[in-house]
Amino acid sequence: MAPGMNTSSKNKITEPLLTDEQITEQVRRILYDNMVEGHNGRYTFHYTKPSPGTYPFQYFWDTCFHVHVLTALGEHDMAKKHIRSLFLLQEQDGFIGHIIYWKHPFPARLTDFFQLKPTSVLRLTKPHMTALVQPPLVAEAVQRIYQHTKDIDFVREMLPKLKAYYNWLHQNRNFEGEGLLSIISPYESGMDWKASFDPVLGFKRGKGDWRLFLKVLWLEMGNFRCGYDLESIYRQDNFIVKDVAFNTIYAQNLQALSELCSLTGDPDAEEFKVRSDQCCESILKYMYNSEDEAFYDLAGHRMEQLRIAAATIFFPVVLPNIPIKVSEAVLQRHLLHKNGFHVPYPIPSLSVQEAAFNPDESVYIWRGPTWVVFNWFIHRFLLRKGYKEEANLLLTSVKKLITQSGFREYYDPFTGQGHGANDFTWSGLVLDMIVGNTPNEVE
Ligand code: GLC
Repeated sequence: MAPGMNTSSKNKITEPLLTDEQITEQVRRILYDNMVEGHNGRYTFHYTKPSPGTYPFQYFWDTCFHVHVLTALGEHDMAKKHIRSLFLLQEQDGFIGHIIYWKHPFPARLTDFFQLKPTSVLRLTKPHMTALVQPPLVAEAVQRIYQHTKDIDFVREMLPKLKAYYNWLHQNRNFEGEGLLSIISPYESGMDWKASFDPVLGFKRGKGDWRLFLKVLWLEMGNFRCGYDLESIYRQDNFIVKDVAFNTIYAQNLQALSELCSLTGDPDAEEFKVRSDQCCESILKYMYNSEDEAFYDLAGHRMEQLRIAAATIFFPVVLPNIPIKVSEAVLQRHLLHKNGFHVPYPIPSLSVQEAAFNPDESVYIWRGPTWVVFNWFIHRFLLRKGYKEEANLLLTSVKKLITQSGFREYYDPFTGQGHGANDFTWSGLVLDMIVGNTPNEVE
């Protein structure tokens, strides 16, 4: 067994783990129950709600997770419909917002109105989307569908839209030209209240509270006030962050996009490969801290490392261009040994040693509990690199969580108790781990 990777739990479950068949059936049921198809005006949409009550909209990166789960279930046509729906409102310049409100005039919280462009506020009854982005997993999602179906026409259909989307990111968020993308709101990371952002927001109190909420609200009101004009947001430098997970995903997806281009003989394959390599090099150059053997988010124009041990400190190990010595060091120190991530139900979203760490249910999410998505993300890499035992441990941990607490949004890393949204689809990524798919490599 991997030294230090903790499998012993004070709260060991006594009942047997759900079988793979039982898990498959439960995942299928949740996906079907949460799936929505409908019309608004000239649009026919098709997506899955991440959770029926808490998250009823079409979200960008959630849709990509759903594609992975659906392909693991063999539901390829549904997966294609999800992707087509995601691109329906794509703007002329390639942009797609992180939440699409197909038939909902109002967001979940009134304060989320500030995530819209002021012009969208005037057309709330029509389908509309936010002015924010989310981690750009969509090239891999399309590639995944191709791997399972060999449907080259689908690739040809999606490629111009994908290229426009990634070109938008490159032209609008690669502010310094180093190949790294910046986010302009914590929500864009997909990890809303991630503790690494606290110093940028001026929040010094450890566990999240209403003061943190006000700081984020104030930031988003500022972005709204300037009409989401990116040049002026960059100039103001209130929240310009290069998130390590966001950029790792970006690099992976540029690689996937390059491979999709190659499949269809599109000459842009080379350009996207160059961008992917540049992003990897910059991740290593700016985000890696050799003293801490960790990759950190970067803040502001000066790209200062935010030395807070969120679970994303080891994300870049999955990138092929990261030297093996570096990935070994990071994994050994943080994932396989104690150092803050050693809990009965790994992987906690934040090191237990951080002042902000909170394992309990809270509106200030992503500051301690375990999300299945971390295990899913690293599992593929561990398998590919021959860390079979460690990969298996992460899978077993997820199976225990689901057996004990069902498909919840997140779990207490010490007790495995389920928290947050119910019937949460991302926890269905366990199925993809079970199927043991290797990363997206077009054969
Ligand atoms: C939460 C998550 C975000 C996700 C959304 C819907 O806001 O932080 O990543 O997209 O829920 O599931």
